[in-house]
Amino acid sequence: MVDNLRVFLTSEQIQRRIQEMGAQIDADYPEGPIYLIAILKGAFIFLADLSRAIKTPSRIEFMGISSYGKGKTSSGEVKLTKDLDVSIEGHHVLIVEDIVDSGVTLNYLMSVIKQRKPKSVKVATLLDKPDRRLRQVDVAYTGFQIPDEFVVGYGLDYAEDYRCLKDICILA
Ligand code: IMP
Ligand code: MG
Repeated sequence: MVDNLRVFLTSEQIQRRIQEMGAQIDADYPEGPIYLIAILKGAFIFLADLSRAIKTPSRIEFMGISSYGKGKTSSGEVKLTKDLDVSIEGHHVLIVEDIVDSGVTLNYLMSVIKQRKPKSVKVATLLDKPDRRLRQVDVAYTGFQIPDEFVVGYGLDYAEDYRCLKDICILA
């Protein structure tokens, strides 16, 4: 692959910010368990680091949603590709997402999760592109607000490539 990649956030910057997010989450949740629901696949690395930065007892679950085809722009169509295996009724839920872009994915997911009567539901995202929002979403914890650029690495892909880069890079 010879695509043009430019480092935007180094792994050190990412790790430092995640430690701060973990401390803030601990301060906000005096008791566990927190059900950390990561959205596949993009959030898998963020989940691994965030979950270890949180001291409040947590449980790990996954959901699969796809709103993107193989390109850089949303198809606008949201599909549940993997549902939860457990009931979240009466539990604190923290949705763990890699990036909020149009907000279409999270807006849909929030409505699905709320129907299942959790005790609380909040969103933690590593990245946020506020300029591109089409649907309103309440994001409780944001790692970094970023400009309208397509980024890859640290779990984020372009057509399934680049997920395993340690840094987050702008793909030109
Ligand atoms: P939304 O529904 O438009 O908010 O899209 C959210 C999903 O789109 C994220 O979970 C990502 O999978 C994907 N996405 C949005 N922007 C980027 C990007 O810059 N790089 C890689 N994936 C992205
Ligand atoms: Mg994705």
